[in-house]
Amino acid sequence: MCIALPAKIREMRGTKALVDSYSGLRREIDCALHPEARAGDYLLAYGGRAMKLMAKAEADELIALLNQVAGRKKLFDIIKKGKLGFDDIHYLLTITDPEEVRLLQREADRLREVFLRKTVCVHGVIEFSNHCASNCAYCGLAKSNGSIVRYRMEPDEIISVARTAVADLGFKMIVLQSGEDEFYDDDTIVRIVREIRKGRSVLIFLSVGERGETAYRKFREAGAKGVLFRFETSDGALYRQLHPDSDHKERLRHLKFMKTLGFLVASGPLLGLAGQTIATLVNDILLMRELKIDMASIGVFIPHKETPLSSEKGGSVDTTVRFIAATRMALSPNMRIPIATSLESIDTDNARLIALASGGNSLMLNLTPLKYRRDYSIYPGRFGENESVQSLVDKAQDVVKSLGRRVCKGWGTRLKVQESADEFLPVCE
Ligand code: 5AD
Repeated sequence: MCIALPAKIREMRGTKALVDSYSGLRREIDCALHPEARAGDYLLAYGGRAMKLMAKAEADELIALLNQVAGRKKLFDIIKKGKLGFDDIHYLLTITDPEEVRLLQREADRLREVFLRKTVCVHGVIEFSNHCASNCAYCGLAKSNGSIVRYRMEPDEIISVARTAVADLGFKMIVLQSGEDEFYDDDTIVRIVREIRKGRSVLIFLSVGERGETAYRKFREAGAKGVLFRFETSDGALYRQLHPDSDHKERLRHLKFMKTLGFLVASGPLLGLAGQTIATLVNDILLMRELKIDMASIGVFIPHKETPLSSEKGGSVDTTVRFIAATRMALSPNMRIPIATSLESIDTDNARLIALASGGNSLMLNLTPLKYRRDYSIYPGRFGENESVQSLVDKAQDVVKSLGRRVCKGWGTRLKVQESADEFLPVCE
């Protein structure tokens, strides 16, 4: 959505800057957010407003990168566009030249840097029950899988794990996730949300499946601020094949009312399922845009041996990273894009680093007590399956530091103006 081409300030007129843009146009840019701007400085603008001021050295580096991209006409044309269409996204997902793929990743990384700065948000997930009433074809927690040990955390245990993560480790956003498990009725979820929030500022996301609008209204009123609810695929026919007991329209209806109820919505596809084409993936990105989701939750399918899809190949790091980069470019540029645990699991050494440098901006750490964690086996070999929370936190810090970035100190979530924890900040702190 953003071109963020650098522009050199010719002249300041009050808070307005008259600039020469990279593409040669002379424009007026609102510099109210950067009163220190002077003639001769460079800036990056979006929607007529200066997002970032740059010293000449930084601008030179950026111009060198853009000059490289400019040699790739098609990619450059896409970068310059305001809103990417089907064909543009299709192109981004099918580039074969490794150098051009690298430029795409760098461009997505640059957009992330302009809009979300150097911060990486670190969220936590508590998987409180692996009981599930559904039989999704790809999922190890499917009801029909009799080979796993099922567990349920007591509400007080969930509350205590969450409150400790917030109070002792500084987590600002916690996802409470389970299978489709009605054992926890609406009132129980409401109580859990209320208790976790009591006296604490924490953003709670629920990932508890299809429970209908009335339930989600109660959860919202109780103070839950977000939902993590993947649509899994934009292809209705493929969805039907994979979900014997769930309906694609119902899934999308949930996402729509969740948005209307005021939830921050994290959603997206599961990549690497047989039957997905490039067109399906383009439509996945367009569906995220249409649903106006706030966070792109992009999973990678990993086959589980106790499921009907056990012999499938599963997704790849390459396709997923490229999908992340294309998502950064096609959706709102300050879109939150967490790195899914499934991606971390298929390349434990590098996937995080690559994805965080290709448009991704956050990490999700597993806070589930170790005694349960292995049994939340949606797929085998989950990243960090046996690691203490402290070790996961330390490793995340190391990765973030090694990229020259830092963990988001603030909410990553707060709307500055209102000083409330209800929304994502336009930029992280
Ligand atoms: N591989 C990767 N992700 C999976 N999920 C379920 N099964 C798998 C699997 N085998 C994801 C789905 C679901 C989320 C909770 O876990 O996308 O929405």
